[in-house]
Amino acid sequence: MNQIPDVLYADEDFTTWLIVGASRGIGLEFVRQLLARGDRIIATVREPLATHASALWGQAGSDHGRCQMYKCDILSEESIVNFVSELTVKSNLKIDYVVLNAGVLRYPNRSTEMSFDEFAFHLHTNTIGPIITAQKLLQTNIPIGTIVFMSSDSGSQGNFREMEDGFAAYAASKSALNMALRHMAAELKRKDDDTIILAMHPGEVSTDMANISVPWHVEGIITPEESVSKMISVIQSKGIQHSGTFWTWENKPYIW
Ligand SMILES: NC(=O)c1ccc[n+]([C@@H]2O[C@H](COP(=O)([O-])OP(=O)(O)OC[C@H]3O[C@@H](n4cnc5c(N)ncnc54)[C@H](OP(=O)(O)O)[C@@H]3O)[C@@H](O)[C@H]2O)c1
Repeated sequence: MNQIPDVLYADEDFTTWLIVGASRGIGLEFVRQLLARGDRIIATVREPLATHASALWGQAGSDHGRCQMYKCDILSEESIVNFVSELTVKSNLKIDYVVLNAGVLRYPNRSTEMSFDEFAFHLHTNTIGPIITAQKLLQTNIPIGTIVFMSSDSGSQGNFREMEDGFAAYAASKSALNMALRHMAAELKRKDDDTIILAMHPGEVSTDMANISVPWHVEGIITPEESVSKMISVIQSKGIQHSGTFWTWENKPYIW
């Protein structure tokens, strides 16, 4: 799957990003903007041959191969482990920023109605998958600067969004993600590990996920372009003192 020699990814002069869940929406926009900036990108998709994902393959290939593509399905521990072990054989790889972007919303999901499997599907994809992917990456010898988890305002307990009818499993999965990533940040601090752990709310972004008809008015819808360009600045502005904090695309601290 590689298009360029590994040595480029170890070059101190280049910033390397890993985007997990890059086939469409916010993840694909990260890849587009990072390619335009001249950064190096490792991007994962579930189905490289799916029409929406293959568009990215074409783009990566035509951009002097600065984007390397891998397969990773965060619903499968085996897939996560296989992907991470593929990275470990790349010589001198360092990753400046990891963005764990993959997520799902199957609308509606109400606590009074949803099935066991629907609830589990949200928790497996939005909570367990991203945390285990980060854990497996941290267990390698690959130096990692920052790990960003794509959370959501729906997962905030301090700013509970009571009007979000049909978001129970999604909100619970993002809330659980928030708690697990805070523990991850605290555990790393205790180990004197200086990898920075951040949670982000990307805004209300016009993607496939947001293409649902909800009975309340969604304010301030933004494009993936705006969300991602602002998130890149926010992510790059954070240091180790910010590990274990939650931010919006507008660089406002968000309540857990
Ligand atoms: N859009 C918003 O307004 C909004 C607001 C708050 C938070 N977020 C969060 O932002 C992130 C990106 O959302 P989006 O709006 O870009 O959604 P999207 O357009 O639906 O894209 C979701 C991405 O996640 C990938 N994905 C889903 N399940 C996966 C799995 N098991 N393994 C690997 N990849 C998987 C999808 O890959 P496939 O193409 O293979 O399905 C796709 O690339 C999500 O975590 C979402 O919860 C979005």
